[in-house]
Amino acid sequence: MSQREIWMESLDLSQPRAAQTLYDLARSYRSEVSLFINNAGFGRYGDFVDMPMGSIHNMLQLHINTIVESIRLFLPDMLARQHGDIITVASVAGFFPIPYMTEYAATKAFLIAFSEGLARETQDQGVTIQVCCPGFTDTDFHQTARHQPKHVFFAQSPQLVVQTSLQALKSKRTLVTIGWQGRLALWISKIIPHRILMTIAGKAVRQPRTPHLKE
Ligand SMILES: NC(=O)c1ccc[n+]([C@@H]2O[C@H](COP(=O)([O-])OP(=O)(O)OC[C@H]3O[C@@H](n4cnc5c(N)ncnc54)[C@H](OP(=O)(O)O)[C@@H]3O)[C@@H](O)[C@H]2O)c1
Repeated sequence: MSQREIWMESLDLSQPRAAQTLYDLARSYRSEVSLFINNAGFGRYGDFVDMPMGSIHNMLQLHINTIVESIRLFLPDMLARQHGDIITVASVAGFFPIPYMTEYAATKAFLIAFSEGLARETQDQGVTIQVCCPGFTDTDFHQTARHQPKHVFFAQSPQLVVQTSLQALKSKRTLVTIGWQGRLALWISKIIPHRILMTIAGKAVRQPRTPHLKE
């Protein structure tokens, strides 16, 4: 059995300049990075006006700034070698606006649009840009978000998400959903007006108000 070395570093990716630190660290271990995955993220549920400003800043920095800056740093080397894959984990929450998780859904929508645009810009240059959009997945995400789901239909395993995403790299697909639930969510978001979907989704995720949520 071949042995692979794994190095681990701990880094707060919601800090400014985290992308440059991450890039420098990665390059200190390997001169070439062939697979780069943006997975870190967190959710917050509730009324936007109750969200602590620090939490909003952290989410915007983590889900948008650090990811965009990291890809800007890692992508040129991949393009120069005409080889490499970049996976960004978004969510089905990015398929349409969702009240009471407004900023989370908006950051994931940004990641979908950003990845799709970038994939088109870089097509046929040997690099795959993928945006992976899981649905409800059985991880610590919901506990971290302090969210008690009212209806949990068909929670997916993180293993299935990873397998599907890595498998999809072979076909160089950009937008990747997980299982039939993901395909259904994408299809629904295209055929049902968003005002109707927002009403349903908002009712499903709304929590009792807790003004001035702690960070
Ligand atoms: N679970 C779902 O239902 C679901 C559905 C759709 C999309 N997603 C997306 O899937 C991705 C992974 O989430 P998950 O479900 O695996 O949740 P999770 O179990 O809570 O894992 C989140 C990961 O992100 C890391 N992270 C959070 N903030 C960070 C920061 N400031 N700096 C560095 N790392 C940070 C966490 O590190 P620590 O453990 O060190 O805090 C953890 O490894 C996220 O982008 C999420 O939005 C999840």
